[in-house]
Amino acid sequence: MGKIIAIANQKGGVGKTTTAINLAASLAALELKTLIVDADPQANATSGVGINPKEVEVSIYECMVDDIEATKCIVQTDIKYLDIIPSHIDLVGAEVEMVSIDKREQKMKMSLSAIKDDYDYIIIDCSPSLGLITVNALTASDSLIVPVQCEYFALEGLGKLLNTIKIIQNRLNPELEIEGILLTMYDLRLNLSNQVVQEVRTHFKTMVFNTLIPRNIKLSESPSFGVPAISHDADSKGAISYLNLAKEILERNQVNAA
Ligand SMILES: Nc1ncnc2c1ncn2[C@@H]1O[C@H](COP(=O)(O)OP(=O)(O)OP(=O)(O)O)[C@@H](O)[C@H]1O
Ligand SMILES: [Mg+2]
Repeated sequence: MGKIIAIANQKGGVGKTTTAINLAASLAALELKTLIVDADPQANATSGVGINPKEVEVSIYECMVDDIEATKCIVQTDIKYLDIIPSHIDLVGAEVEMVSIDKREQKMKMSLSAIKDDYDYIIIDCSPSLGLITVNALTASDSLIVPVQCEYFALEGLGKLLNTIKIIQNRLNPELEIEGILLTMYDLRLNLSNQVVQEVRTHFKTMVFNTLIPRNIKLSESPSFGVPAISHDADSKGAISYLNLAKEILERNQVNAA
């Protein structure tokens, strides 16, 4: 049975897309069949795996709004075991168009249920909002990863996110779990980074992944080549840390990596 994991935090620029792309690519490198669902109109995950959002014909938007089958929206990437359901800018309109639709919070869940078992992992990249598309993503998911940037105001907005998760658990998806909190853009040399790590670990304890994602240039430049860091420079600290995250998740889920 496939597991669906959303990468969510309504705070912008905390490393959601970087995590979605590189975690998915790492799971694929471990020979697990993986699908990225790009649920952000910015379409950064789409372009980050080498697909031009302007050339996307059927996106997650058509799945949710026009009831197009998810299988018809899947695009293969150049990476073995890694597929994507892309996004494009029209997804902005989905929020508005879906308001009058019946069961509007469950459209993504219904779409993905048809393909869930074709994959080991489905990773959903959410936008920096708690709007209807993110609610759809969290309703469709088994768990979520919350990236937290090792920066000033790291915990800002986390209370609101946890509250939204509670509401979704109560009303829409009782099975939703927090897979873990992921510390991103960690800089060993910065006192501030270390303070944030300590604060988050003290507060959230075992909810926090052991794996820390360092600030690493290969992670920030690989999207411009349209590849994950593991394809750009497999020996980089960034690529290795996301591979470690994938292994930690597999361990937590008691699946043996190939
Ligand atoms: N570990 C890292 N090291 C260096 N740069 C990083 C790292 N993680 C993310 N970045 C860079 O920081 C910026 C924001 O990251 P990213 O796009 O992953 O965040 P996001 O949460 O998806 O943003 P948004 O909220 O806009 O969707 C990007 O330019 C990305 O390349
Ligand atoms: Mg993003």
